[in-house]
Amino acid sequence: MQDGYDIGPLAQIPPGEGRNFSVGGTRIAVFHTQQGEVYATQPDCPHRRGPLADGLLGGTTLICPLHERAFDLRTGEEAGANCRILTYSAEVREGSVFVKV
Ligand code: FES
Repeated sequence: MQDGYDIGPLAQIPPGEGRNFSVGGTRIAVFHTQQGEVYATQPDCPHRRGPLADGLLGGTTLICPLHERAFDLRTGEEAGANCRILTYSAEVREGSVFVKV
């Protein structure tokens, strides 16, 4: 991924947490796992618009803070359901996070 939006240093997102950003007019949530990986998704839960960036992150599993639905950040798929969230390509280059929306 050579292009994408530079949303700033990875250090602004503590490991194990997510933050909301607006890039190119699109709202996204970006997550920094304890393992140092980054993932980007839509910001609102498809169930009742829970703020996904405030969810509980364990590995690559994100649990919505409102009703505890679980999503895999790698694929967007909800565990045990036919629902998914949008995911976007995200990577770290020289300490900065780049997201392609
Ligand atoms: S709003 Fe996310 S599980 Fe209900």
